Amino acid sequence: MADLAVQTKQKKKTEKNSWWKEAVGYQIYPRSFKDSNHDGIGDLNGIRQKLPYLKELGIDFIWINPIYASPNVDNGYDISDYQAIHEDFGTMDDFQALLKEAHELGLKIIMDLVVNHTSDQHPWFIESKKSLDNPYRDYYHWADATNEVPPNNWQSFFGGSTWTYDETTEQSYFHVFAKEQPDLNWKNSNVRHEIYQMIRWWLDLGIDGFRIDAISHIQKEPWDFKITDNQWAPFMNVAGIELYLKELRAIFNEYNILTVGEASGVPHHEADAWTGDHGYFNMIFELEHCQRIGELGSQKGSIPHLKQSLNEWQTSLEHNGWNALYLENHDTPRSVSVYGDDSPEAAKALATVLLLLKGTPFIYQGQEVGMTNYPFRSIEEINAADTIHFYQTLLAQGKMTNEALKIAVNWSRDHGRTPFQWENASHGGFSTTEPWLKVNENYRIINAAQKEMENSSIFHHYQTLIRLKKQTDALIHGTFELLLPEHPTVFCYTRTTDTERWLILVQLDRKATSVSFPASWNYSEWEELLTTANINPLNQQMTLSDYEAHVYREKLV
Ligand code: GLC
Ligand code: CA
Repeated sequence: MADLAVQTKQKKKTEKNSWWKEAVGYQIYPRSFKDSNHDGIGDLNGIRQKLPYLKELGIDFIWINPIYASPNVDNGYDISDYQAIHEDFGTMDDFQALLKEAHELGLKIIMDLVVNHTSDQHPWFIESKKSLDNPYRDYYHWADATNEVPPNNWQSFFGGSTWTYDETTEQSYFHVFAKEQPDLNWKNSNVRHEIYQMIRWWLDLGIDGFRIDAISHIQKEPWDFKITDNQWAPFMNVAGIELYLKELRAIFNEYNILTVGEASGVPHHEADAWTGDHGYFNMIFELEHCQRIGELGSQKGSIPHLKQSLNEWQTSLEHNGWNALYLENHDTPRSVSVYGDDSPEAAKALATVLLLLKGTPFIYQGQEVGMTNYPFRSIEEINAADTIHFYQTLLAQGKMTNEALKIAVNWSRDHGRTPFQWENASHGGFSTTEPWLKVNENYRIINAAQKEMENSSIFHHYQTLIRLKKQTDALIHGTFELLLPEHPTVFCYTRTTDTERWLILVQLDRKATSVSFPASWNYSEWEELLTTANINPLNQQMTLSDYEAHVYREKLV
């Protein structure tokens, strides 16, 4: 008896600490969410105004992209003070008020933790640059070089060498992103100590967790490492990283929080170390499923790749680990444009696939109203530094401006960063003045007010899916199995527990197609619980078209 009591108590404790398994998240790109003070830039008080909207949608927590002091070379991912709020977004008091109001509504807030690099305007780097023997010199990576010859031939994610020469000390410093984002030297224990203190400071303020940026890059190979097939290999999940990740985990474990690491380059078969029961984070953002597959210049994603990749992640983490589910974020184009045809039906179909997979879903702002890619007409409409760099590289390769633009903008991050479309009013109701990035003209029909009003809109479909997921044990904990793996457009899977089996059946195309299921199934036992089209009972032979999505349930006892 005593044993059982201990076990039950233990189980209760673990369940309480795993609140994030039953939660649905919502990502806010603060610059583009809601402008409250008419300067064309979204801000913290704008988020506060919209908390009731998020509550109505049904989500449990918000991840906010960086809001810290920053020169904004990479829109806040270049931080100059980790413990200050960027004035564009408001003040620390505004943040505390937001946190308090969110908590009162039962919404949690997780913050972006950007510790692979700082801004070149961070006081540490300003010091580090000054001299070879400055106490902060070793906070960053410096190596001998000349202006012409960098220490090695490694290439940065944003284009060009990972090294930038600095005349003051005639050495070069290392950066995997822009030259204004120097990488911190994690080997230095003072660096780690300062970062850990900063992390505790935020957690003690009462935030509910972190999305940890670019964390798979904090360890680098020795500078003489030679690149062979994968040009990112020198700083992707390099051996030795586990020492630092374990230190981070030890801090995170002291708090009942959600941690999700951005883990580019961590393959699904190695993911258990990152997210398993003893993993570094509760879950990770993998980047494989949303990678561009196919020809340059095409805006379309591949459904077979999407299926295959999500299936690998679902099955690899079935028994150990947890998935963070997403189809879009601030670095990607809009999923309804990439995998669909910009229509509400396509948006609903994708939502059905995403939300009922096993894992914690992250909805990216605007996804729930079906926001689409932006038809960029000139490079002047682009803000994202990497897109501009890519465009210039294409020009330098001899491409004509039109062609370079077409290729460069197709997968630009700015598609996902255009201001949120709140209503059919000037600037889409995002701001009363010209916003920092253009609003998509389709705000007249695609906007939150409209979608809240329409029956059976995308917004209401999201609400229904969130509710269904949260009240259904099988849709949270049930095992995943992909069906019809070879079908080019139908995404079909089951979620099963001892007592129920759920079947999610979605046609990710407008064309009609037929599918068939085993003869041995008990078709009369399956109940259709949700559809985005006409009722279509589960059958051995079925025809599907026009992005229709169906959810069925069979009781097993
Ligand atoms: C992550 C962020 C991206 C940023 C980069 C550098 O990939 O999602 O927006 O540019 O890290 O911090
Ligand atoms: Ca503002």
